[in-house]
Amino acid sequence: MSVLAGRSLVVGVCGGIAAYKVAGIVSTLAQRGADVHVVMTEAAQRFVAPLTFHALSANRVHTSLWEMRAREDHVLHIALAHRAAALLIAPATADAIAKLAHGYAEDLLGAVALAATCPAVVAPAMNTSMWEHPAVRANVAALRARGWTIVDPESGFLAERQQGVGRMAAEERIIGALEEAVARTRELEGQRVIVTAGPTREAIDPVRFISNASSGAMGIELAREAALRGAQVDLVLGPTHLEPPHGVRTHRVESAREMHEGVMALREGADAFVASAAVADWRPAVAYDQKVKKGDVDPVIRLERNPDVLAEFGRRKGTTFLVGFAAETQDVERHAREKLIGKALDLICVNDVSRPGIGFASSENEMLLIWRDGSEALPRASKREIAARIWDRVAVLRAAPKGES
Ligand code: CTP
Repeated sequence: MSVLAGRSLVVGVCGGIAAYKVAGIVSTLAQRGADVHVVMTEAAQRFVAPLTFHALSANRVHTSLWEMRAREDHVLHIALAHRAAALLIAPATADAIAKLAHGYAEDLLGAVALAATCPAVVAPAMNTSMWEHPAVRANVAALRARGWTIVDPESGFLAERQQGVGRMAAEERIIGALEEAVARTRELEGQRVIVTAGPTREAIDPVRFISNASSGAMGIELAREAALRGAQVDLVLGPTHLEPPHGVRTHRVESAREMHEGVMALREGADAFVASAAVADWRPAVAYDQKVKKGDVDPVIRLERNPDVLAEFGRRKGTTFLVGFAAETQDVERHAREKLIGKALDLICVNDVSRPGIGFASSENEMLLIWRDGSEALPRASKREIAARIWDRVAVLRAAPKGES
C-alpha cells in the first residue's frame, strides 16, 4: 500500500503549459488512495479547466481565497493547510516560485503555503534562460533553505520548440519525492521531542557575559527535521541571531539555569530529548546588578558550576530517548563513550573539533554517532543533511529490540 493512502494532499497548480501533466499526477495520487485537494492559481485556469481536476480528484477544486465555506472549513486556506500531509506545487512557474519565496499571500495557494507546516515539494517548469536567471536561482535556494524539496526540471523539448533544461520532471520523480516527504512525516507522528540549541550566556553584570561560539545551527536543523517528520517539537534556544524553524514551539532562554528550568518544565512525557546546546558549564558566582566600573572590583571572576541539563534528564529519563553531543579534540571515541554511559544516553553525536571547516562556525559538519553497541561515521555534509541522518539513526535504534541495535 502506498504511503499516500488515506493522506490529505494539497496540489497547487500554477500557470504553465505543464499544468496538463499535473492532471496525470493527480490521477495517480488519487489511485494510490490520497485525498487530493487541488488549488489552482488564476493563470493555471487558462491552461486547464478546474473541472478536469475535480473529475480526477473527486474533490472540489479551489480557485479563490474568497470562497465561502460552512462550519469547520470556513477559513479555507487554514483548513487545507492544516489537514495536508504534504503540499505539491506543480508546475512551479518563475512567478510562483518568487511569490512563495517571499511569502506572498494574495491568492489561495500563497496563503495555504504560508499556513502549512507540512513538507512541500516543488516541481519547477520554465524556459532554460528563466531557470538559470540569478533571481530564480536565489528564490529556489530560499525554498530549499526552508526545507522544501525541489524536484529539478529535466532537459528536453520545451514549449518554445527547442531543447533545453526547464521541462517539468517526470511524474515518477515528482510522486517519488512526495512519497518520500510523506513517509518522513509518519516517523515521528504523535511524538513529542525536546531540542536544546545554541550557546548560553552567563552574566557578569547587565552588559557583560561569558558565552561561547555556538550558533545553534545544528540544533535548529535537528528541530526542523523532527517537525518535518511529524513530531511536536519544543526548541529551547539560547541566544542566537538564527531564525528558529517554522512549525516548532520555540522557548528563548539566556542562561544555563534558564535552559535547565525550561527543559525540566517540558520533560514529562517527552519521547526524545536532543541536547545539542553548548551549555556553559560554569557561571560567575556573583552577577552584579549594576555595570561594573573598572576601578571597583578585584579583576578575578570566581565561577560556580551550572546544572547539567542532560545529566539530570538522564537520571530520571524513564522511556525518553536521550541524544547528547560532545566536542572532543583527542581520544574522541573513548571520551564520547564515557559521556554516553555517564549521562545514561542512548546516542551521542561527536564532533572532532580539531578538524578544520566543521562544527561551530560552519554550515557543514562531520560526525561520529556512538551508541551502546555500535557506531557510524557521518561524512562531511550540510548540517541539514547531518540532522536527517541523526534522526534516521534514532529511528533505527528505537525500532530495535533492546540489545539488538
Ligand atoms: N550539557 C547540558 N548541560 C550542561 C552541560 C552540557 O545539557 N550544563 C549537554 C550538552 O548539550 C551536550 C552534552 O551535555 O549534549 C555535553 O556534555 P559535556 O560533558 O558537557 O561535554 P563537554 O562540554 O564537551 O564536556 P568536557 O568539557 O567535560 O569534555
